[in-house]
Amino acid sequence: MKPFRDMRLAEAFRIQLAAPDDFEGWRDAARRMVRADVPPDRITWESPADPGADLFAQGDRRLPSPPADAPQPRVSRDFLQLAQSVILHSDSTRFSLLYRVLWRLQSRPRLMEDKADPDVRSMEDLARQVRRDIHKMRAFVRFRSVEGEGSERYVAWFEPEHHILRANAGFFVRRFTTMRWSILTPRGTLHWDGEALQEGPPATRADAPSGDPVEALWRKYYASIFNPARLKVGAMLKEMPRKYWKNMPEAALIPELIAGAQAREAQMVKAGEQDFGERPQSLGAIGEAILGCRRCEIGCNGTRAVMGEGPSSAALMIVGEQPGDTEEEQGRPFIGPAGRLLRSHLEEAGISDERTYVTNAVKHFKFVPRGKRRLHQNPTAKEIDICRWWLDGERALVQPRLILALGASAARSLLGKTVSVQKVRGEPQALADGSELWITTHPSYLLRLHDHGRAEEEAKFAKDLRKVAQRLSELSA
Ligand code: URA
Repeated sequence: MKPFRDMRLAEAFRIQLAAPDDFEGWRDAARRMVRADVPPDRITWESPADPGADLFAQGDRRLPSPPADAPQPRVSRDFLQLAQSVILHSDSTRFSLLYRVLWRLQSRPRLMEDKADPDVRSMEDLARQVRRDIHKMRAFVRFRSVEGEGSERYVAWFEPEHHILRANAGFFVRRFTTMRWSILTPRGTLHWDGEALQEGPPATRADAPSGDPVEALWRKYYASIFNPARLKVGAMLKEMPRKYWKNMPEAALIPELIAGAQAREAQMVKAGEQDFGERPQSLGAIGEAILGCRRCEIGCNGTRAVMGEGPSSAALMIVGEQPGDTEEEQGRPFIGPAGRLLRSHLEEAGISDERTYVTNAVKHFKFVPRGKRRLHQNPTAKEIDICRWWLDGERALVQPRLILALGASAARSLLGKTVSVQKVRGEPQALADGSELWITTHPSYLLRLHDHGRAEEEAKFAKDLRKVAQRLSELSA
């Protein structure tokens, strides 16, 4: 009897996927084809949005049936993760690239580790371009308000380069949960009514409104955060390519701002100051403004900024490092594991929520993705220094008598220099505005210790908090 492969040699198959980002459809068909031993050059892959795709083609209804005892294909986790991004690329050869790599993985299970392999490199390149497009959409979508039946609706027009619309939907739902909005693109549309998300057909630019008061707001905001001292035209164009400008109200200001930048920079250098424009005058306004902050790379990573929380006349301000995964999702500081540990120690020390304003040195969550998880990364000194402007705004409004910095990043933010927490903890320092700074370790540090010295470190942390509690009661006596 002929081996199975020989029987198939002459046959070619055409596989029509349901959508350009149909990962499950591709995966199911690819598994079946590998099990049936069909080599890559025997398959044509198509999806409705590919150039030249036959919209009426059904694909082959009779795909080969693998033998019952054919093993399941070997797939590495690296491959699957990358493939989910690659499939969103607009390159019509992506499906066959993925199948070729899957096919090769069967005889070379560690293929994905070979970073010089042309197929692996192509996958990584496509995935990188997709990630960049996802990021650009998160950063550059601009909503315009339209009069709805009774309630306000926001509509944005965006032209993604790849099939990222569905993959980005969750982000916009989380960030703009309470708004009613539509995002229109030439690849499809998303509509959120505050409760449910619906997908719709592609739109044209003419379907989207152009110009309304939201634009004026964006322009004013952008002009106020524009910092001539940090202007690097090349870098700016790389981050905010010209092709996005037409949908961004603030872009109209760019030529004018660049022209005036040098003069303003010279003035600022003379005055020795960092100028981020006029500071918002209420905690609410800071909370709004940080959402659009793009002054550092963390602000550009598409996460939601988290504002401080607590009474606006709190005697104690607690400053952490940056929101974590849970905080970013829920938009509130210190509500994840580190927050729970902190709050239980505050309670034990007798420091009540009513006297405490809790915030962070850095307002956005810096992370590296690992599969479905987002792993915390420390902010750099530069990122802390850039974000200090917001913390200074909160300090000017709350005017706390005491400030408790948790960990090295918070300490840097408040002192403007890096210090060793272990050396400076537990002793107060006077700050220029008359408040008193106390420094201790960050509760996340305690959590990371597990059993290794945790009890001892936690006891020191509790002691530091008791000193702060004692000082608080002295000040209010
Ligand atoms: N860690 C922080 O520093 N801040 C938070 O809000 C949460 C965890």
